Amino acid sequence: MSNYHVKNLEEYFQVYRKSVRDPETFWEEIAEENFVWRKRWDKVLEYDLSKPEISWFQGAKLNITENCIDRHIYSRGDKTAIIFEPNDPNEEAEHITYKQLHERVCRFANVLKDQGVEKGDRVCIYLPMIPELAVAVLACARIGAIHSVVFAGFSSKALATRINDCECKMVLTSDGSYRGTKTIDLKGIVDEALESCEGVESVLVAKRINSDIQMKEGRDKWLQPLLDEAYHDCVPEIMDAEDPLFILYTSGSTGKPKGMVHSTAGYMVYTAYTFKNVFQYREDDVYWCTADIGWITGHSYIVYGPLANGATTVMYEGVPTYPDWGRFWQIVEKHNINQFYTAPTAIRALAKENLDFVEQYDLSSLKVLGTVGEPINEEAWHWYNDNIGNKNCPIVDTWWQTETGGIMISPIPYSTPTIPTYATLPLPGIQPALMDENGNELKGNLVSGRLCVKFPWPSMARTIWGNHQRYKDTYFSAFEGKYFTGDGALRDSTGYYRITGRVDDVIIVSGHNLGTAPIEDAINEHPAVAESAIVGFPHEVKGNALYGYVILKETGESRNHDNLRKEINQIITEHVGPIAKLDKIQFTQGLPKTRSGKIMRRILRKIASKDTSNLGDTSTLLNPEVVQDIMDNAL
Ligand code: WT7
Repeated sequence: MSNYHVKNLEEYFQVYRKSVRDPETFWEEIAEENFVWRKRWDKVLEYDLSKPEISWFQGAKLNITENCIDRHIYSRGDKTAIIFEPNDPNEEAEHITYKQLHERVCRFANVLKDQGVEKGDRVCIYLPMIPELAVAVLACARIGAIHSVVFAGFSSKALATRINDCECKMVLTSDGSYRGTKTIDLKGIVDEALESCEGVESVLVAKRINSDIQMKEGRDKWLQPLLDEAYHDCVPEIMDAEDPLFILYTSGSTGKPKGMVHSTAGYMVYTAYTFKNVFQYREDDVYWCTADIGWITGHSYIVYGPLANGATTVMYEGVPTYPDWGRFWQIVEKHNINQFYTAPTAIRALAKENLDFVEQYDLSSLKVLGTVGEPINEEAWHWYNDNIGNKNCPIVDTWWQTETGGIMISPIPYSTPTIPTYATLPLPGIQPALMDENGNELKGNLVSGRLCVKFPWPSMARTIWGNHQRYKDTYFSAFEGKYFTGDGALRDSTGYYRITGRVDDVIIVSGHNLGTAPIEDAINEHPAVAESAIVGFPHEVKGNALYGYVILKETGESRNHDNLRKEINQIITEHVGPIAKLDKIQFTQGLPKTRSGKIMRRILRKIASKDTSNLGDTSTLLNPEVVQDIMDNAL
């Protein structure tokens, strides 16, 4: 039996028990047997969750790109590492072998160095899903620069906030991007963002759509000529196990986005381990995750996890709807995809379309199907199972977070029996706990509560960039000595976990994690708006959609409401991005508030969800009369 690759349920239980009984030996064996280290660790784990301080493989030295690329050159140099599938199905796919990836990453790394990037510097990557994105990420890791990838659907203001928060000195972008029939002017967005980012010294621009863009003298350079001139080999920077590998921003319920900091060795070990087990990847498989590398799913399960296993990983540039709703399945057939990983929102959207889009393609290569990002409803699960998996492919409903770095609760295919809507069992090394509101752990089965993790795991985020106190307050203060996830969950009679959704003010829309605060801040920028509150309500395709309650200033009250709604969504698009647009906007005279001035979102949520039979206790409200008024005018 090897700890690294779990192959049946009995093995899972054995390995799981070992991982709890003796976590250090468990992870030590995995680290020892499956990676290359420049120096061995002195201590596997050191932690104090009250501070919190966590350190895995302390004293070890390594470079993650050596593990993801160099070591494979000897054993599988001509194997395809990355398949790039372009937006346009008529453009040829690109197959990048491990040898070629090595050269491209080395050249890019040398360009970064030539441009003055040093170990520890932050580099913002704002690129579409083209090979340069994966190469840029790895090039940063090669030289020890900390990458901060910003999803290239975020607006200029959102980009600027993220660039400034971690003081990036360089931005990597492209002239533009393709999305179905549309092109997006990425360079224009970067230019706008940089008007308020003084620390950025240089911008390197990849050419993708051949648009006519402005290049700012002294700041902007085309990437390709620099790559062509750069040396094809680059000695990897030797990093400490705990050196930061990257920063990735995620929304919080309040305040600005949180720059989650992930460190090198633990992240590598955990993403590689979970990739291998959750997808049961075998040497000749072709694996496809449809996420964007701008999210944690892409970091961990398009780039690092698969490459650390010498896998073939697909990067798809386009959208599920172009040229038609059959695009995903056409790609599955074309590249003989074995493992397919996507979001429930995509499944729900696809399930609404004609089955012809599925049936015209041969999906028999598929072995494992995955979902991530939000709870999957039973109907979508069955559609996925029946029509895509042909009832033959286990579905792994993987629960995790930007903060956890890797998958935490998930079936292991062909080992764990699956049940729709259940993420099932914790992966080896993960010790979940359900807590009641008084801070007591709920032991035994058939309980539901707040989901925590009570023991460190290697890929947990180590801090929030520039604000360790916030890291402690957000994740380690609600329940002493435990990491609090912000989710609720139940444990059924067999010990299976079902995630029931957020218990804070984060709303998951189409699998995207949206905090209420930045959206409300954006709305409040509108000159006619006095105050606003947004909540989520159930939506057939998106899972949740956003409902805004807006109080207008007296000066704005006479304005045409439809125009105001458009303007509000326009402002949100500019400040946050189009994913945060509101589906419904209700103008109201007041918002239900507690005596301490806090908006009672619970009530607003119920009204938005048309679930007003029992509004709960409203006696603590300062202004109970507004509730009836809001209900009477609900949309
Ligand atoms: C939140 C984290 C992990 C990568 C994508 C999202 C929700 C995630 C599931 C699932 C139910 C899920 C949780 C979590 N979530 N996966 N399988 N079932 N809910 O990362 O943006 O950090 O969001 O997504 O609410 O806390 P993220």
